[in-house]
Amino acid sequence: MRIGVLTSGGDAPGMNSAIRTVAVVGIGRGHQVIGIREGYKGLMDGDVTTLSLGDVRGISRIGGTVLASTRSELFKTEEGQAKAKSSIARLSLDALIVIGGNGSLTGASRLAEDGTCTVVGIPASIDNDIGHVGLSIGVDTAVNTIVDACDRISDTARACKRAFVVEVMGRQCGFLAMRAGLAAEADAILYGEGRLTEHEVVEKLREVMRRCFAPDSSKQRALIVKAEGIGITTERLETLLNEHLEQDAPGVGIRSTVLGHVVRGGSPSALDRVI
Ligand code: F6P
Repeated sequence: MRIGVLTSGGDAPGMNSAIRTVAVVGIGRGHQVIGIREGYKGLMDGDVTTLSLGDVRGISRIGGTVLASTRSELFKTEEGQAKAKSSIARLSLDALIVIGGNGSLTGASRLAEDGTCTVVGIPASIDNDIGHVGLSIGVDTAVNTIVDACDRISDTARACKRAFVVEVMGRQCGFLAMRAGLAAEADAILYGEGRLTEHEVVEKLREVMRRCFAPDSSKQRALIVKAEGIGITTERLETLLNEHLEQDAPGVGIRSTVLGHVVRGGSPSALDRVI
């Protein structure tokens, strides 16, 4: 068989291990493995290269994806789907392996609908927002990165008697915030699924401030982990809390850190490589 493999959407640490495994197992069983560059864009453009064992040697420890990745708006359209299907025929692909998240796997299932070729999806997204998947590739590394950042922030927060809001990725899913917040001993974890109004969030956090900075509290720091998906920006949250800080926790300062794409990079954990 000729098996195509691509990575699509937001990259996730561990994608390279998945590419390597496809190549090692595929070549080992006598198939030809074709690497498709830049996700669905490369599929539509026919931007491919035959993968050898040498091409994938040592890539497991590298973050990102050696095949590169894109988010393709064109692929979502009828025109894009047609282009991808004719490319699959032109490249004589018998199977396509898509390594990606929610949107990428939705695209893969559309390709599979009319039997264009065998399509296999490998869930990889730091957000862990893919149905029926316990832990997708990339989540474990991302959680560890967040916990490491929160531990560092906790040190300086305690030293300076401050409250910190730490924003983490997770567009429509609070899993990263929840898992990392638990591990980092956060005082509050905010996630979109909680469906709280802005007022409710602020009232709950004011209570957290009063508790963490009470004169008899041994804590004297507050760590609030916030998923990017909640409807209040980190800047606004900081402003709103600041308005009451002198009353709730006199002498306490507040700062915020948006971890952003830092969370998506780095060498994959052993768990992400093995998944
Ligand atoms: O889909 C994973 C994700 O990391 C989300 O958590 C985040 O909102 C988004 O990607 C960021 O996408 P981009 O890198 O395209 O800005």
